[in-house]
Amino acid sequence: MSDRHGGEPEPLSAALATITKDRAGRPAIPEEYFCQTCHFLVDVNSPEIAAWFEANRPDLHPLGPTLNCRCEDAADLEARRIQRKITNANLPKRELTGPLTFDNFDATLPGTAEMFDVVKAWADGTLAESFLTMIGITGSGKSHLLESAVAHLDSLGMSVRYERAEVMLNMLRHTFRDVEGDYGQDIQDVMDWYDSFDALIIDDIGANRATPWGEGYLYLMLDKRYADGRKVAIGTNIENAQEMEKAWGARIASRCFDRNSGIVKVLWSEANDYRKASL
Ligand SMILES: Nc1ncnc2c1ncn2[C@@H]1O[C@H](COP(=O)(O)OP(=O)(O)OP(=O)(O)O)[C@@H](O)[C@H]1O
Ligand SMILES: [Mg+2]
Repeated sequence: MSDRHGGEPEPLSAALATITKDRAGRPAIPEEYFCQTCHFLVDVNSPEIAAWFEANRPDLHPLGPTLNCRCEDAADLEARRIQRKITNANLPKRELTGPLTFDNFDATLPGTAEMFDVVKAWADGTLAESFLTMIGITGSGKSHLLESAVAHLDSLGMSVRYERAEVMLNMLRHTFRDVEGDYGQDIQDVMDWYDSFDALIIDDIGANRATPWGEGYLYLMLDKRYADGRKVAIGTNIENAQEMEKAWGARIASRCFDRNSGIVKVLWSEANDYRKASL
């Protein structure tokens, strides 16, 4: 409330008594009654506000809930929007730790600065390469940074899908195996759906030998992005092209470890196992 006389602010009742009238001669509603953010009434259930309206603006009394401040609703909507984004992006819920972001990644630990900078640049679009292969030992922070990239891409208005390789391929295979070996149009629709995201992140590409089926579909997904020059990032413990070739075949290995075409950034992390360090 304004302090018209200097010193202590005047009481509300005094302010109400001096309220200017609108063109129809009705008292203007005190500014204090409006939320500064959404410009609806701060609290229609407040006895003070209700009493003022009853006395001064019977035309608006009693106040209905539609006039009430929407900020909490907006905050609730925003929380639900973020939750929906997380579900769409397929991120782990991280209920115990909260989301993993660039802000809660410690890039001062040995070996972490380069991976932080590269993943951030990939997400920002300032990295020259569109295809990022991130290699590191278990616990080195690969998933942390890839999940951070999801939140960052989302904040830039880009759609992004996060998958763990084997979980995704198992899910796809179980969903479509009833179709007698012919995965046909349905799976093509799924591939198109993956392709529709601005960015695709495939984490945990493991060293266990893949099935020919899994290999085939992972290849199709990666090759499409590779050929189109669209954003894709992978996280893996596989250290080199030979090991990747054994597990996932020559075509995937050749693309993930392509160091000549300028399409792929191969990033070997030197970071230690954070999980062990914190024991
Ligand atoms: N530099 C770091 N700053 C803060 N937390 C970190 C850092 N590195 C790793 N962590 C945390 O350590 C845990 C393990 O990291 P993360 O899951 O990213 O490892 P990873 O490289 O994906 O391992 P894996 O190969 O086993 O999947 C996570 O809880 C992650 O948040
Ligand atoms: Mg991981």
